[in-house]
Amino acid sequence: MKILLTALVLTASALMAQVNEPVEVPYIAYEIKTGKGFDAVQANCLTCHSFGYIINQGPQARAFWLEKTVKMVDAFKAPITPEDVQSIAEYLFTYYGNGEEK
Ligand code: HEC
Repeated sequence: MKILLTALVLTASALMAQVNEPVEVPYIAYEIKTGKGFDAVQANCLTCHSFGYIINQGPQARAFWLEKTVKMVDAFKAPITPEDVQSIAEYLFTYYGNGEEK
């Protein structure tokens, strides 16, 4: 088993060594707007993914943000209290909303 692992590591490092061109990762700056409800976002939303992943959705309606927040609880089992769900949806709509209810 040890020999197999050593062989695997050696093969993998040899493969990595082949990539000698500089790899450029685009830098995307996004502004985080702090305000009422942001505490709840910080405490509940950033454990699994970045803030950028959330606002990448672009400006959205109130229903959209509520639905996404509820989805995190239902589908991904994020342990968020119902009060925090409301604060988060409200925060997202206030700062990253499109002004539409639906
Ligand atoms: C338990 C882990 C977890 C937590 C906590 C979490 N998310 Fe997510 N979230 C995910 C996963 C996993 C995906 C990726 C789903 C996919 O790729 O389809 C995701 C994707 C998203 C997306 C992209 C759109 C979509 O429908 O997939 C948004 C927006 C989002 N999360 C918002 C939030 C918000 C707002 C919070 C805080 C209320 C939050 N997330 C907390 C796991 C989590």
